[in-house]
Amino acid sequence: MPQNRFFEGLDMERFSIPLYRMRGYEPLAKSGSEVKQKKRVSNDKRCWVIVIGLIVTVCFLLGVTFAGGWSDGYSGKTFDQILSLEAALAKKKILDNIGPRIGALDGLVVASPSKGDKPYLPNYYFTWTRDSALVHSSLLSSFLPHAYLTSYAWSGPRKVDRTRHSNFKMNEDLIRAYIHSQDRIQSTTNPSGGFMDGGLNEPKFQVDGSPFRGDWGRPQRDGPALRALRLIPYAHFLLDRSYSLDVKYVQENLYDPQQVKVPGRIIKNDLEEVASGWMKHGFDLWEEVDGYHFFTLIVSMRALQAGAILASRLNDTGAETYYVQQAGSIGEKLEDFWDDEKGYYLSSLPKLPSKNSESSISLDIPNFPSREWQDCSMPLSLIHAGNQFDSANVQRYPNITFPVFGPTNPRVLATLDKYIKSFEGMYKINGGKNWTQGWALGRYKEDVYDGVGKSIASPWHICTNAIAQSFYLVQSQLYVEGSMDGFKVDFGFWSDIMKESVNFNDTERRTGDVNFDEAIVRLGEIGDGFLNVSRRAFEEGGKSMSEQIDRNNGNPRGARDLTWSYSSFVTAVRAREEAKALLGL
Ligand SMILES: *[C@@H]1O[C@H](CO)[C@@H](O)[C@H](O)[C@H]1NC(C)=O
Ligand SMILES: *[C@@H]1O[C@H](CO)[C@@H](O)[C@H](O)[C@H]1NC(C)=O
Ligand SMILES: *[C@@H]1O[C@H](CO)[C@@H](O)[C@H](O)[C@H]1NC(C)=O
Ligand SMILES: *[C@@H]1O[C@H](CO)[C@@H](O)[C@H](O)[C@H]1NC(C)=O
Ligand SMILES: *[C@@H]1O[C@H](CO)[C@@H](O)[C@H](O)[C@H]1NC(C)=O
Repeated sequence: MPQNRFFEGLDMERFSIPLYRMRGYEPLAKSGSEVKQKKRVSNDKRCWVIVIGLIVTVCFLLGVTFAGGWSDGYSGKTFDQILSLEAALAKKKILDNIGPRIGALDGLVVASPSKGDKPYLPNYYFTWTRDSALVHSSLLSSFLPHAYLTSYAWSGPRKVDRTRHSNFKMNEDLIRAYIHSQDRIQSTTNPSGGFMDGGLNEPKFQVDGSPFRGDWGRPQRDGPALRALRLIPYAHFLLDRSYSLDVKYVQENLYDPQQVKVPGRIIKNDLEEVASGWMKHGFDLWEEVDGYHFFTLIVSMRALQAGAILASRLNDTGAETYYVQQAGSIGEKLEDFWDDEKGYYLSSLPKLPSKNSESSISLDIPNFPSREWQDCSMPLSLIHAGNQFDSANVQRYPNITFPVFGPTNPRVLATLDKYIKSFEGMYKINGGKNWTQGWALGRYKEDVYDGVGKSIASPWHICTNAIAQSFYLVQSQLYVEGSMDGFKVDFGFWSDIMKESVNFNDTERRTGDVNFDEAIVRLGEIGDGFLNVSRRAFEEGGKSMSEQIDRNNGNPRGARDLTWSYSSFVTAVRAREEAKALLGL
């Protein structure tokens, strides 16, 4: 499977954009009557001034465009070519937000350069453990083969080709800088606690690695899990490359089987934290709701599955057993999020129901909000922790069943379907389009966060891209499976996608059937529709992506140059490339 074709051999200098330019933040346009008034008082001289002004502006804009290397813009380029260029640009934008070049500790990902210095920009000049792990994960496949990426289904060891990537050193320096920054963060006492008592779940730090002491929705338990998931593939890679310094590096910085929890062994520390703390409540990934969250739990389960395999590789058999048992217990809880009546997985619960009454984890959360719990965290769960078609390998732990949260699971599809449709009629920019043509999507329909404060929420790049990526995953998985049988809870999803859906209920469809083959193609087209909505910001928004897309006019909203927006785009484009390569398109 080809990886990151769009990054290899790419000359990054070509994409340097001289100036950061925002669209949409100019003062509001003059109202119609004001403009008319002006016209009445205008005379010939004024007209000339305006004409000359326009000419100067156009020349300036053209100059900037040429200097930015986008001289021929989009004309004559295929969608694939445009996406490749934009994904490379997005990767550059990600790198711009990491480490000293944005004023941060080496390796730390800054969420956004936005420091709150304008009323329409919030202060996101901090580092978040979750964002950092996801952002670094999006860079991972720039140098690690695909097989490393789903480390919870690891089937190595593998032979490492040490000469494969030209930009390998840069990437390895980057990940080591990240590792050392996370060592600093793990050992920093903060409002969530100290190294031994909960401090690893602190969501947010200053860009120099010192604690953030303001009020916040803390703790957030997905951080350690995502960081472990990010780093375990690198540990496997080092063990495979197996220079003595590689093995030493793993032992001294990532995982030392002789040590349970000591500063400096980042993966091991995170695994211990997750294994002993997943049953406690905490805030969701949007930092708003205290409770139990599907996303947090599924990434915790994956981290522990991956951790068990790494532990086994390092002969840490006690830890292996402990991690895999905890992962299994989380897996049992995940099914509790399924709501039979509503027909989708709820994204959060105020308590975790337990089958045996002695369990202490069914603590009720007071003030749990009233919501539908159809949430963007579900597609995020699928793309970051879902089963993938190439990861269904040997059953390593036959006595423990893990739920299959995969892209063709009817419950997963029903959940995605209901999440998408919950935005029906909400955003003007989706106009009269049907969802299958691609909508801009928000975090959840009850959202009121406008990017700075509370008013009326807009769609997010992350969520729109997560759905695009989900479609490429469904496409790949369905193609590999080669068949589908009658619709169940996912009827709504398929009936919008396939023609003649009435014929589908009780028959099995497989490769070669016209409708089946059409559906495969259609899934990719729908993914493209969503991806196209997000990438339009590049085309029209000064080559940048903010956090949100204004619901009325498509202008950027909220934190500018949000690092996570870029990484969500990069991973969606990569999933698209992988699907196309698989299907031979
Ligand atoms: C694990 O144990 C096996 C068998 O005793 C040994 O061959 C191997 O080198 C050990 N691996 C590590 C990483 O210690
Ligand atoms: C799995 O369960 C069976 C039956 O209870 C038991 O004999 C076997 O040892 C278990 N295997 C593992 C790997 O725990
Ligand atoms: C949306 O779908 C409906 C039903 O399939 C169709 O009648 C309508 O024309 C579509 N709208 C657009 C804008 O394509
Ligand atoms: C197919 O199944 C769905 C869901 O069970 C149902 O709503 C629909 O009416 C069925 N269609 C036909 C033609 O039986
Ligand atoms: C992307 O959107 C543009 C207009 O906004 C449209 O012209 C183009 O056909 C779309 N491309 C795809 C692949 O959907």
